[in-house]
Amino acid sequence: INGLIFAIFVVGLWIQICCGQNISRGSFPEGFVFGTASSAYQYEGKVVDFSNADVANDQYHLYSEDIKLMKDMGMDAYRFSIAWSRIYPNGTGQINQAGIDHYNNLINTLLANGIEPYVTIYHWDLPQSLQDRYLGWLNPQIIKNFAIYAETCFKEFGDRVKFWITFNEPLNIAVQGYDVGLQAPGRCSVLLGVLCQGGNSATEPYIVGHNILLSHATVVDTYKKKYQPEQRGSIGISLNSYWYEPATNSPDDIQATQRALDFNLGWFIEPLILGDYPSSMRTRVASRLPSFSKIESTLLKGSFDFIGINHYTTWYASNNNINIVGVLLNDSLADSGASTLRMDDGNNPLQSIKDALKDQKRIKYHNDYLTNLLAAIKDDGCNVKGYFVWSLLDNWEWQAGFSSRFGLYYVDYNDKLKRYAKDSVKWFKNFLAS
Ligand code: NOJ
Repeated sequence: INGLIFAIFVVGLWIQICCGQNISRGSFPEGFVFGTASSAYQYEGKVVDFSNADVANDQYHLYSEDIKLMKDMGMDAYRFSIAWSRIYPNGTGQINQAGIDHYNNLINTLLANGIEPYVTIYHWDLPQSLQDRYLGWLNPQIIKNFAIYAETCFKEFGDRVKFWITFNEPLNIAVQGYDVGLQAPGRCSVLLGVLCQGGNSATEPYIVGHNILLSHATVVDTYKKKYQPEQRGSIGISLNSYWYEPATNSPDDIQATQRALDFNLGWFIEPLILGDYPSSMRTRVASRLPSFSKIESTLLKGSFDFIGINHYTTWYASNNNINIVGVLLNDSLADSGASTLRMDDGNNPLQSIKDALKDQKRIKYHNDYLTNLLAAIKDDGCNVKGYFVWSLLDNWEWQAGFSSRFGLYYVDYNDKLKRYAKDSVKWFKNFLAS
């Protein structure tokens, strides 16, 4: 009997070492939500045009199949976004009933399979006509148009959708779209001298951020007053931020670390909590940073039921005058850098599908992340409610296109977009079952 107990112990230990099953769903507080995430533009594809990113994962047609995959893994929730232009092809005006029907089908199928929909209202796909007509997020007119679109979503889907996310990663919209110019609409002052679609990196990111914050607060106010009392859902926002640690213990580096955080998370979270931008931003950006009126500031304060954090990696920060933030970032001091790369298998055309399914790095990433998340909840008392994996499927990535593979499921772009479970699917299935 001793021998048997020892053997069981050894096997148990081996399973823990090999498969990282030292934590499981049962380790987390009751009601903690596990889900996967996606966005319309990266997943749905267009209906008629069968070329490149226009098709994406064709989830527009294959959603029932994808919901089976989520259910089979034991996921509780699915985070997806609504494409504004499916609801209002011109951004405003006439509603497109086919778009409403599509999201009704998706929501109903999720619910019928016991999966809770978490809906992002804006995940970066602005209807082109709003950009053409008045430069989209640069114009305060957008606040009104976004409010009309969001209200249509509450009216049409709010009887069944209980979790709303107004914006995904506003920081990225402002910085990638209007400072660096690498994402739509590609505006910036200088990018390789030629590629910018016009723009002014010194002012536009701040104007865009400002209009997004006011759009968010307006929509949350409407939801809370008009829809929440009856629909009883929650509304929040997803912010992306790196974490920063000081490169040394010098007071300058410690201050630089705070500034780095101010210009990332603080830019959006401080207006939501305190009603204004972080003081370091106000000092450094000075008159180029728009200001909030008293009414706007009150509208912003507390305009959320939850905050989503999209966290990629952690950097070491040191004081340096190379940019407006006054911070130089360095990830080489620890193993923390490149953690996003761990989530991305990359696309290797020479690799067989069988080999591409072996994603041990992803398993280790989730196991390590969840272990630390659990410690944050249990040891530090953090009020964390759920964990959403980016992403259910390999998908079209904004700058990298199909050369990135972020999915738990492999997608064969050469053969009818067939989905194949990577090893991480088995890991999650085990994790969620125990
Ligand atoms: C999260 C973003 O929301 C998503 O759109 C993006 O594809 C992934 N991060 C990976 O970069």
